[in-house]
Amino acid sequence: MILKKNYLKNMANTKGLIAYYSRKGQNYVGGSIVNLPVGNTEIIAKKIQELTGNDLFEIDTIKPYPKDYTETTNVAMDEKRGNARPELTATVDNMDSYDVIYLGYPNWWGTFPMAVFTFLESYDFSGKTIIPFCTHEGGGLGNSERDIKKLCPNANVKPGLAIRGGSVKNADNMLKSSIA
Ligand SMILES: Cc1cc2nc3c(=O)[nH]c(=O)nc-3n(C[C@H](O)[C@H](O)[C@H](O)COP(=O)(O)O)c2cc1C
Repeated sequence: MILKKNYLKNMANTKGLIAYYSRKGQNYVGGSIVNLPVGNTEIIAKKIQELTGNDLFEIDTIKPYPKDYTETTNVAMDEKRGNARPELTATVDNMDSYDVIYLGYPNWWGTFPMAVFTFLESYDFSGKTIIPFCTHEGGGLGNSERDIKKLCPNANVKPGLAIRGGSVKNADNMLKSSIA
């Protein structure tokens, strides 16, 4: 877990959006396959919402991923190799009204799922602050911060928070000290 104390606290007076991608279902946590009724990233996104009172937006794909973990890793690898842009179920109508975007995602093959590439290419983030948060199984943020900067060259991309999947339920204190 990377602790970045206080640097998010001065965001309190700006209007923020918590946008996240998270996959429910079979996943690999702490060395075993488990069924997650709520995805790890979604748990963190909702905790950030409780702490900040900001709006919440789920990034989701029209085409669902397989329930099976290994099958999903294969589909995700094919999408990454093919530089895919999966179609999303919804758009943010009022993106202009947000100054700060808390962007949440799982680490998939060293960066965020291709759905988050679709999301980041769908809006102009110039002048906005992007605060990445990521859940993972050892790879941390991977290349994701670099990828956000490439897709949003005119945004102010803050150092991201990385939280291990098995630690999301106990992340309250870390989030409080970083965000609240
Ligand atoms: C398709 C896929 C690829 C993954 N690739 C990585 C990886 O490269 N590095 C890593 O640390 N964890 C990897 N993971 C584990 C997830 O990052 C981790 O389980 C995360 O907490 C899942 O979040 P979610 O429940 O919000 O979807 C992968 C999981 C999936 C399903």
